[in-house]
Amino acid sequence: MSVATWSAAGVTAAVRRARLALHLLVAAVLVTLARVATVAVLASHGWWFVQEKVLLGLPMLAAAGVVAVSTAGRRLFAARRAPSEGTSASGVVWLLTTAYAALAGLLVSFLAGYPLTGSTALIAVSLVCAGGLLTARVVAAPVDATDATDDAGIEPTPAPHGKSGFSRRRFISLAGGAVVVGAGGTGVGLLFMPAESVATGGGPRRSSGSRAAVSVADLRGAGTPAPGGSKRQYELTALTATVRLPSGREVEAWTYNGQVPGPAVTATEGDLIEVTLRNADIQDGVTLHWHGYDVPCGDDGAPGVTQHVVAPGEEFVYHFRADQVGTYWYHTHQASDRGVRKGLYGTLVVTPRDTQQADGAAPAKQLDLTLPVHTFDGTVVIAGQDGRTEHTAPAGTPVRLRLINTDSDPHRFALAGTPFRVAAVDGRDLHQPGEARDAGLRLPAGGRYDLIFAMPDTPVALVVDNDHDGGVRLRPGGAAAGEDPTVADTSGWPELDLMRYGEPAAVPFDAGKADRHFTIVLDRGVAMVDGAPAFAQTVNGRGHPSIPDQLVTEGDIVRFTVVNRSPETHPWHLHGHPVLIVSRDGKRSSGSPLWVDTFDVRPGQVWEVAFKATNPGIWMNHCHNLPHAHQGMMLRLRYDGVTTPFAGSHTTHAGATGSSPHGGH
Ligand code: C2O
Ligand code: CU
Repeated sequence: MSVATWSAAGVTAAVRRARLALHLLVAAVLVTLARVATVAVLASHGWWFVQEKVLLGLPMLAAAGVVAVSTAGRRLFAARRAPSEGTSASGVVWLLTTAYAALAGLLVSFLAGYPLTGSTALIAVSLVCAGGLLTARVVAAPVDATDATDDAGIEPTPAPHGKSGFSRRRFISLAGGAVVVGAGGTGVGLLFMPAESVATGGGPRRSSGSRAAVSVADLRGAGTPAPGGSKRQYELTALTATVRLPSGREVEAWTYNGQVPGPAVTATEGDLIEVTLRNADIQDGVTLHWHGYDVPCGDDGAPGVTQHVVAPGEEFVYHFRADQVGTYWYHTHQASDRGVRKGLYGTLVVTPRDTQQADGAAPAKQLDLTLPVHTFDGTVVIAGQDGRTEHTAPAGTPVRLRLINTDSDPHRFALAGTPFRVAAVDGRDLHQPGEARDAGLRLPAGGRYDLIFAMPDTPVALVVDNDHDGGVRLRPGGAAAGEDPTVADTSGWPELDLMRYGEPAAVPFDAGKADRHFTIVLDRGVAMVDGAPAFAQTVNGRGHPSIPDQLVTEGDIVRFTVVNRSPETHPWHLHGHPVLIVSRDGKRSSGSPLWVDTFDVRPGQVWEVAFKATNPGIWMNHCHNLPHAHQGMMLRLRYDGVTTPFAGSHTTHAGATGSSPHGGH
């Protein structure tokens, strides 16, 4: 609106509609004040939301606006009754220049954002000045042709000394032009300055101990199970396949072993998990990333960082101990936006050892359902089933539903017909979770919730995204198979806030005493992504792989401030470590300690999280809306002293996965 009103005021003044121009000028001033007020409101949410506006956009607008009002305002006021009075040319020029400044501020916010760089500031200011100078030439053109008394009503700014003034004006505009071109050129040149390759978060650049460098290729998981454990061996072959869903619908999928989801990987705590991954015909290449499972870095499945991508005909063997109990999943990390969407995912569930080895007594019969949710072309598929799935369990049976969101957008779950507890989030148990009922559960992309309850003697429905025809139905034994439980409309249920759920408990470190603190500002903007300019999903104004690595030292307490300036949700995900939620929008977490591997940073939110750096490696740190990661929202967290022999772009699609698959060795 400020762009529109300032330019309208300028144009109407130029065509001698003085009265209208005066009204538009008043409107422009009011709109500009409203813009200042908006920025003040935004500023109360944090400096990251307004920095470029406060330092550049508003000052430019205010400076030009003040000159415009003082040069054009008085003349327009006088001319409102006597249009023949005309408007000064300089007034028109300044009104239009103010419009350019308003536009430049807007463009800086939308195209560059936070943080404001010298380059952006130089380019913006010189473009506004260039616009002003060119406008002055156009507006004053008839005057330069020596006819001083034009009856178009537009008078030139009076030249101080007649003919010599003419050449002086010429000189000023030439000199001004040179300065503007110089400044703009410098700004453009600065764009090509190489960025810092590393961010230290306020910590030292090198650790004091002179430790020998270690390669991620040597940071591999154990080769044997823990005492008493066994070896769980899997063979997963990535291949394209036509998968027939229960409804009869066929999906052209990318699969592990021809099925979606891929084979369920399960283990008991302490077992050795060994998975041989082969690639039959996925031209993009594949890997296996154990989402949320803190494997040693060499088994993390990040192509070009922790291993070479597995090309068709090749294989890679992953092995690690099942030390973490809970609900996890695996997926390809190569061109993952496409690969995962098309079906390269599966579940990983590790159960505690003691329940399996109960002292001879048979453990109570449980209903334990692993329910990965995935969307194939708009069809929601739960554990490989589209439409509604049904299960039966006698009343009183302990039930555990393991919800897994394998999509890039959040899903909303509702459990109707029974009170329940959220026993675990992202595989980690909550401390004293209370009984919940009639609450919506929003599960971020990549996230998991374990819901537990005792089967009542009436049916229970798990509703996904308010679709009451689909989802999962549980019936107590004896209920007629055709009988349909009446499910309450769950769409209006309030969302359960996990930041206030469960009881507080001690945590292993003081998040307030961080050794390193990184700020991650998420936005959209023009940035280089994989070597080409793009309207990218950015982190601190940059796109992958030009975002500086975050450097940490083993043992550091690391804190992230994650700020979302964009209108989309960003499910933030760090590999190799669970993070402890400290606060959201300045409000501290007051429930059970919440350890997650993905947290949904919604538009305008600011999250503080912390973790202890205890798993050396080079770890991907990215948005788990996988198309966003592909559009640049991905960086690396690197331990001091860890190197990688692997190289190549992480996201590039087919063919570009490195000139030779083994080039890095
Ligand atoms: Cu589940 Cu890097 O991702
Ligand atoms: Cu995102």
